[in-house]
Amino acid sequence: MLHRHGCTTVIASRKFDRLKQSADALSIATGQQCLPIQMDVRKPIEVMNTVDEAISSFKRIDILINNAAGNFLTPTSGLSFNAYKTVLDIDTVGTFNVSKVIYEKYMQNHGGVIINITATLYYRGQTLQAHAGSAKAAIDALTKHFAVEWGPNNVRVIGIAPGLVAGTGFAMAIGGVDSDAYREYVSGIPLHRESAKVDVAHAVLFCVSPAAKMITGHTLVADGGSWLTFANP
Ligand code: HXC
Repeated sequence: MLHRHGCTTVIASRKFDRLKQSADALSIATGQQCLPIQMDVRKPIEVMNTVDEAISSFKRIDILINNAAGNFLTPTSGLSFNAYKTVLDIDTVGTFNVSKVIYEKYMQNHGGVIINITATLYYRGQTLQAHAGSAKAAIDALTKHFAVEWGPNNVRVIGIAPGLVAGTGFAMAIGGVDSDAYREYVSGIPLHRESAKVDVAHAVLFCVSPAAKMITGHTLVADGGSWLTFANP
């Protein structure tokens, strides 16, 4: 979506082969350059190297989308100490690391928009999600702290909280599109539909555009009203 609106992009994650495949597909589909860089958001040195490479390749970073997340469904009794810490490290510490480095190396002097992809899991204490819910709660706090601290440098910071998105790991975790559990989940959403990936992209596009130039420190829930009605099992 951002490519289709004139952006070049860097995509970064741990598995280079998958990244390269995605970058090639995106470039072919849109004609825009997409640079894949192997990086673990938990490792500050790798984050710093990635940001340096992005700036040296494109000379600017106008938009950061913090989208790295690890998640699985488990009761707290099935969550090891390390499992809890791992999810907070990826989601929360990862968001902190990448935002801090990009702010200090670029946005502090040039402005920009940071989008934190988050979730509504902690709004009502979703079962099986103590790890991801607390990680996302901390991300939502960072959205506000960064917005207040970095607003004077013309950096806007916005959270986007999707719900069920077709074709993602969470959709598989609740049984996949053909299961009764999936259909039941969707029928409990006030709009009676799950998101497509493009719906999330549209929310991002709005938030990074001048149409949202007065929005910062806010988390936009884009879940069809799901969090209002979802019943814990
Ligand atoms: C319980 C689990 C587990 C599971 C991993 N662990 N999977 N515990 N149930 N299903 C535990 C491991 O046993 C280990 O603890 C600890 O977590 C770390 O696991 P590792 O595999 O060593 O760590 P790592 O390689 O860093 O990967 C962790 C992971 C992984 C990110 C959680 O499962 C993964 O790569 N998942 C794919 C990415 C992903 O989940 N994306 C979905 C994001 S969607 P011990 O004690 O054994 O050492 C999302 C949105 C949700 O977040 C929105 C919902 C509405």
